[in-house]
Amino acid sequence: MDHQHKDAFPKDFLWGSASAAYQIEGAWNEDGKGPSVWDHFAKIPGKTFKGTNGDVAVDHYHRYKEDIALMAEMGLKAYRFSIAWSRIFPDGSDDLNEQGIQYYERIIDELLHYEIEPIVTLYHWDLPQALQDQYGGWESRKIIGDFNHYCVTLFERFKDKVKYWVTLNEQNVFISLGYEQAKHPPGVSDRKRMYEANHIANLANAKAIASFREIVPDGKIGPSFAYGPAYPYSNDPKDVLAAENAEEYLNYWWLDVYCNGEYPKTMWKYLNKNGLSPTLEDGDTALLKSGKPDFLGVNYYQTGTFEASPFEEVFQAAKVNHDGKKGQFVESGIAGLFKRKRNASLETTDWDWEIDPVGLKIGLRRMTSRYRLPVMVTENGLGAFDTLEENDIIQDDYRIDYIRRHIEQLKEAITDGVDLIGYCTWSFTDLLSWLNGYQKRYGFVYIDRDETDEKDLRRVKKKSFDWYKKVIETNGK
Ligand code: BG6
Repeated sequence: MDHQHKDAFPKDFLWGSASAAYQIEGAWNEDGKGPSVWDHFAKIPGKTFKGTNGDVAVDHYHRYKEDIALMAEMGLKAYRFSIAWSRIFPDGSDDLNEQGIQYYERIIDELLHYEIEPIVTLYHWDLPQALQDQYGGWESRKIIGDFNHYCVTLFERFKDKVKYWVTLNEQNVFISLGYEQAKHPPGVSDRKRMYEANHIANLANAKAIASFREIVPDGKIGPSFAYGPAYPYSNDPKDVLAAENAEEYLNYWWLDVYCNGEYPKTMWKYLNKNGLSPTLEDGDTALLKSGKPDFLGVNYYQTGTFEASPFEEVFQAAKVNHDGKKGQFVESGIAGLFKRKRNASLETTDWDWEIDPVGLKIGLRRMTSRYRLPVMVTENGLGAFDTLEENDIIQDDYRIDYIRRHIEQLKEAITDGVDLIGYCTWSFTDLLSWLNGYQKRYGFVYIDRDETDEKDLRRVKKKSFDWYKKVIETNGK
């Protein structure tokens, strides 16, 4: 749709920014915190870029006041951050660590002091290692109760202070990378196990939402999904069908369960025929249906373009660009379903992520039509190399351009009828990229450190800092 007059952003629009505990906090073993699967995994040689880990990260644990003061200076309306489960329950389930909960209470109070809306993510991938060791983490149904206990503890404690909650961050990513591609913990490559673990995560998500309804009836909760809308490579109907397959296999497989409590039919049949569908026990569907979200969180970085693939096709293992040298894209896919192609009409980042602002609007429109729920963009941003120039200047015009073009599409999406409640950039400060070290920077605030040297961890405002400040001041005008 092309509009002559675009709608304004709603008056109470949540202009925000986001982060995750492991990527910013550091203090990995302080004040009673137990180890998480990432504390363990990142220390296995060869797993992360140059062996980077979150032991210190950007030291937000000790510098949160300085960071939140910068958020206030920017005029941020909302800040999305995650709670590290193993700070609250060091062994995952039993003994509450009061020091851990108090740390997050201080963060929340500091945000509220500056009238910044806290958006709390309950799970951003840092499972307590104890639960991985005890029963295999997401592969055991025991986690449903433990996750619920952890969530209920936080709901009870913060229900009067926190209105917006995110359950699981990018379940599609942590499950696929953890159990299919073996790039995240627990480093498994087994599709059957992946679908079983994913189903258990769905149940845990639904149970936590159902509990939330009882404890925080006036709050809002939803998962954050990594949504990459699928395009056909050509107008050949076979490619159009491949894109349909990809949309259902890579996106609706999760979104339909969150919103309707049911798996999409054709993909279920496909997986079932291939011996991959998860085990449905009595009561599972009822539980899934009882945990519908208030909003959908969308983490948007790129779209995907797909071509038909015959079932005898053989793919090379997907290659991931970890060092930021452009041009490492390798075609990957699922034989018989789809093959992922480079979209020649899109530019890419140095890490080969396709830049597609219109794709954001397409995704928001598809979600709105299919689920009719409010949407919050819970992540969107550009990972780039930044240069710290003399006199602490960082001219990140490329980041401004990226975010500006995405915000323009948000405005269009609102005009088209999307009920958009907020937009959180990724990220406020630079932080640790799980697999790509510290060189891939996303923040408005530069952190003076690199992979091998923690330096002084100084905070330096980039050019984009003042620009986003203005965006917020003018409510996106
Ligand atoms: C999202 C995650 O997948 O993308 C973030 O929720 C992550 O935690 C972000 O950092 C960017 O990914 P990357 O690989 O560039 O760090």
